Amino acid sequence: MVTATDDYGIVATGLIKRYGDVTALDGVDLAVPRGTVFGLLGPNGAGKTTTIRVLTTLLRPDSGTAVVDGIDVLADPGTLKSHIGVSGQYAAVDEHLTGFENLDMVGRLYHLGRKRARERARELLERFDLSDAADRPVKGYSGGMRRRLDLAGALVANPAVLFLDEPTTGLDPRARLGLWDVIRELVAGGTTLLLTTQYLEEADALADRIAVIDHGRVIALGTADELKRRTAGERIDLGFAAGDADRARPVLEGVWPGALQVDSADDRISVSVPAASAALIDALTILRDHDITPIDVGIGRPTLDDVFLTLTGSPAETATATGDPA
Ligand SMILES: Nc1ncnc2c1ncn2[C@@H]1O[C@H](COP(=O)(O)OP(=O)(O)O)[C@@H](O)[C@H]1O
Ligand SMILES: [Mg+2]
Repeated sequence: MVTATDDYGIVATGLIKRYGDVTALDGVDLAVPRGTVFGLLGPNGAGKTTTIRVLTTLLRPDSGTAVVDGIDVLADPGTLKSHIGVSGQYAAVDEHLTGFENLDMVGRLYHLGRKRARERARELLERFDLSDAADRPVKGYSGGMRRRLDLAGALVANPAVLFLDEPTTGLDPRARLGLWDVIRELVAGGTTLLLTTQYLEEADALADRIAVIDHGRVIALGTADELKRRTAGERIDLGFAAGDADRARPVLEGVWPGALQVDSADDRISVSVPAASAALIDALTILRDHDITPIDVGIGRPTLDDVFLTLTGSPAETATATGDPA
């Protein structure tokens, strides 16, 4: 359990939330060091949005505690509001207002004052590459533009801790990459960020640490590399001249029984191993002792997809394009 909350932008302990028979959160613990990106990765219904709602004062858990930016979320929700920014699926953007009007309105809600609210709106529109569209109603914006505006809205009050709930769900790949750039820039500026996603590649690309959540429980925690290593092991891949794979097979089988995948047609052999680089040296040495030289060698590392499958027993969503209106 983490107690030194000064070093942490977010600390949650034992969060439980039930809706009737459904246990949305089943004892969630999280600790996010300041200035880092934490990825909450899980399938639909895993409890991601519920976690964000609790941490942003929108929902009281049945039990557990949460401290965000040093403030007790449950005891002092009013104070916390000005320290956090939230953006995501339930975007609070008014379709009929322009991009500028939307941000200006948020600024006034945060009591920035008339002049400062306007300045801040223009600054953010510029920063998110929306200046040209600033005075057009949001209903004509593309999906990517809306997400950028929504994110800008979350930044109006310069929050110390930012929550993004599935920021790129439904965006086409180009818009998604654009948003990733924006998010990377943000964290380079020191913001603590908790990001939820169903996309493994998004967690892999953006998050310093990742919690895999399923059925309201954190089932794995670590950097993307740690999760890959821990759950799926590594692999060495060897390619041979015609016929040599058949000679190499019994040699390798002798060292790594049951760990071989052989593709005789292509003269390729893969071996599942705990540590690939050491195993590769061993493999090359023993093959040389048998006068066999592979013509190509490689190391295969598991992807987060393998991790997700291993942990949850079901494949993850893939980040395919869905209609992003022009
Ligand atoms: N207001 C609610 N009433 C009843 N059940 C809810 C409510 N909100 C969420 N749930 C349930 O709690 C679980 C977690 O939901 P949620 O946090 O929205 O998941 P995620 O954001 O990971 O998709 C789901 O089973 C969902 O159906
Ligand atoms: Mg959700």
